[in-house]
Amino acid sequence: MLARLLRLQGIDAVVLEQRSRDYCLARVRAGVLEHDVAQLMRDLRVGARMDRDGLVHEGIVLQVDGVPHRVDFAALTGKSVMVYGQQELTRDLIEELEADGEPPRFQAEGVVVHDVTTTTPRVTYRRGGAAQELRCAIVAGCDGFHGVCRDVIPAALRRTYETAYPYAWLGILAEAAPATGEVLYNSHERGFSLYSMRSHEVSRLYLQVPPDERIEDWPDDRVWDELDVRFARAGGGFRVGRGPTTEKGITPMRSFVSEPMQHGRLFLAGDAAHIVPPTGAKGLNLALHDVGVLADALVAWYRTGDDAALRAYSETCLRKVWRAEHFSWWMTTMLHVPPGADAFDLKLQKAQLRYVVHSRAAAASLAENYVGYDA
Ligand code: PHB
Repeated sequence: MLARLLRLQGIDAVVLEQRSRDYCLARVRAGVLEHDVAQLMRDLRVGARMDRDGLVHEGIVLQVDGVPHRVDFAALTGKSVMVYGQQELTRDLIEELEADGEPPRFQAEGVVVHDVTTTTPRVTYRRGGAAQELRCAIVAGCDGFHGVCRDVIPAALRRTYETAYPYAWLGILAEAAPATGEVLYNSHERGFSLYSMRSHEVSRLYLQVPPDERIEDWPDDRVWDELDVRFARAGGGFRVGRGPTTEKGITPMRSFVSEPMQHGRLFLAGDAAHIVPPTGAKGLNLALHDVGVLADALVAWYRTGDDAALRAYSETCLRKVWRAEHFSWWMTTMLHVPPGADAFDLKLQKAQLRYVVHSRAAAASLAENYVGYDA
């Protein structure tokens, strides 16, 4: 996305990707785009397939004790979200970069970033067995939590903030028509579950499981049976739509922020600098916000020589990062059952859920954050 943003402004950008093209296109990730992110796709002229195949959702459903409650984003915020798989968005962008004649350099291995505190940073890597060097003005570290860029910032200058959650998500992708029209967040005494989708024919479902759970212990039948138990409605009559599963995995959950997000000519974006738990679907949206801020700052710097926005990059991004960190933590802790929860905590959780589904002000706060809040 950053490369697309920059190239449209006449700024050259090279993308180094450790993985193969096929891996990037197949990797199942997030699925919900904030209102402004969907608009950004259109503005960058990469939104046609999203507008054709994506699903516009004007709300979500919060189910508590088997009773569904709708949170109406359109009424509360005038906005909507777009349900569109991250790997579809990735495909649209990769194809656009390829059409420019400068495709991502896939399978770039052994990436090392050099000299970011000079005006002539370099990136060395290997590709197809050959050593390569890239000289550039700016390095954007969009290389994820496990990437190499964050550690380029000296430890003495960095501060990290993190928390781990005592649960994980078991996720499946299934060739099954979703039995819900909107994304359904379900609080249940056996643990949280989430009913999402990728299309009218493909469901994406998640179950809260212990963090050390083994996927081998969850054959498909067990997953479907557990989903049926958790999503059951108080009045009966709700059945999860079953079908062949095409993907199954367990995702750990953590919150993490590394500050600052810049050092010399290096700028971190997305998971390289911050992680949110998936509840509320903020990860991809935050990453795209970062690169939007970075692109604007770079364009201003190239056009006018003014580096004020570039110098403020980290501070600007971190405002939205911490809002999303709070929202994701809040959604997560409101909806999951902590192992060994004490009775008082469960009562507080229930009081909070009731408030969100019955108070217009509380629902509006959830909605405003969900569709995308820019502080
Ligand atoms: C998804 O569709 O993968 C999804 C949707 C909503 C979330 C998290 C994940 O909060």
